[in-house]
Amino acid sequence: MDGAKMDQSQNLPCSFVIFGATGDLAAHKLLPALFDLEHAGRLADNLSIIAFSRREWTTDDWLEYVRSILKNKLDQPSCQALLERFLARFRYLRGDLKDVDSYHALAADIAPGSACSRTVFYLAIRPADFVTAIKNLKVAGLNEPRGMNRVVIEKPFGEDLESAQVLNRVLHQYFDEEQIYRIDHFLGKETVQNLLVFRFANTIIEPLWNRNFIDHVQITVAESIGIEKRAGYYDRAGALRDMLQNHLMQLLTVVAMEPPPALEADALRDEKVKVLRSIRPIAKRAVHAHAVRAQYTHGNIDRQPVVSYQQEENVEPDSITETFAAAKFYIDNWRWRGVPFYLRTGKRMPRRHSMIAIRFKHPPQQLFRETPLESIDPNWVLLSIQPEESMHMEIHVKQPGLDMNTRVIQMNASFLRTDEQTLGAYETLLLDVIEGDRSLFIRFDEAEWAWRVIDPILKFWTVEREYIPTYPAGSWGPAEANRLFDSDDQVWRNEL
Ligand code: BG6
Repeated sequence: MDGAKMDQSQNLPCSFVIFGATGDLAAHKLLPALFDLEHAGRLADNLSIIAFSRREWTTDDWLEYVRSILKNKLDQPSCQALLERFLARFRYLRGDLKDVDSYHALAADIAPGSACSRTVFYLAIRPADFVTAIKNLKVAGLNEPRGMNRVVIEKPFGEDLESAQVLNRVLHQYFDEEQIYRIDHFLGKETVQNLLVFRFANTIIEPLWNRNFIDHVQITVAESIGIEKRAGYYDRAGALRDMLQNHLMQLLTVVAMEPPPALEADALRDEKVKVLRSIRPIAKRAVHAHAVRAQYTHGNIDRQPVVSYQQEENVEPDSITETFAAAKFYIDNWRWRGVPFYLRTGKRMPRRHSMIAIRFKHPPQQLFRETPLESIDPNWVLLSIQPEESMHMEIHVKQPGLDMNTRVIQMNASFLRTDEQTLGAYETLLLDVIEGDRSLFIRFDEAEWAWRVIDPILKFWTVEREYIPTYPAGSWGPAEANRLFDSDDQVWRNEL
């Protein structure tokens, strides 16, 4: 092993603790992602994984559980050996997040003082338990040595501006910023990273990427799933906190940021913060014009009937939590002044589809008189994030024939060749945590500024508790969302 490699491996953690190991996040995202990293040969031989949870389980019970979670990934005989290697990394530790003794037991289990004691603590727990867990880690001395152990915090980081600031103060009391990984898994998605390449590696794009050419930007994250078994969290959070404040705002920053001086953590995050700081604050009296919320009623998705939000398990029957949120923002800087950014997200929409749609301005002169005005659609650039990862550009060409008519064609570019597979967002980000790269994680000022932008909407909606518009499950949201548009020729773009 050469010197540099040895140094790097000494920096790698050898324990990875999952708090909330039996929860949804671990089952749906973390365990499959860790297994994929095993598959890719990216987990160091000495990495052990400690599953921490309240269930009265033994390590054998836990291993059975992991097998069941991964069963659809084990399609080839060779996977069995891989699975055994993966399972051999685990220990199960029964513990209570609120009980200090559990953390002492964890500390004893990790055995500090051995050749490698660097540990990652992944808080895959309810946001309401973050502060308790952080304080108890400190009591058991697990925040030490400073700069070594890492703590990963899921979004939403706080419930509003104030609670985010409190959470951050507690974190900083016991952990240095270099130890803190605030995760927003959308930043790990391949298309989102591709957007950086698309913008900053192609000189033909950048000159057009501003208020002189762009009419408006739409960012849609539509999901067909409902809230699954997450009512306890979701009914308190709602779509604005769950998705818009973090995932959609992050997408907005990546679309709107200036080129950073270098592609490294702080340079990137400085540019994103500048965007958030430039967003025009929404005055209380303007919230209605800038934001729309709604909740799904019953309907059909893929021809299957689904119940309304209020009938979901463990949701209050009179809940007015929003499952759809849309908002309009202006970025008051030289590049973007006057260009509206429309963001929307919702559960129980017709299908899972996330897309950034950029509409360009009309040409300054109407040359093609034979083409009816209404069919001169402006150019669009569409970046699909999921389920497919692709880019589409809509341009006009001449229709064959004697007349000078135009029609729109799409130039389609898939980001993947047929023989390629992307890594999932969590694979990318977990590897970054393990390797200590914080570029794709949220610095506190990003979270803080995103809360500043969202807070007026949040406050307004918290007071207005009488009524919430609805939309049928399986639709693209409430008609009210159309009122955000600045002009009549702007409409939500649902399809590629
Ligand atoms: C999570 C939200 O952060 O993102 C969920 O809490 C949402 O409500 C999920 O379903 C969507 O992520 P993905 O990667 O499955 O599109």
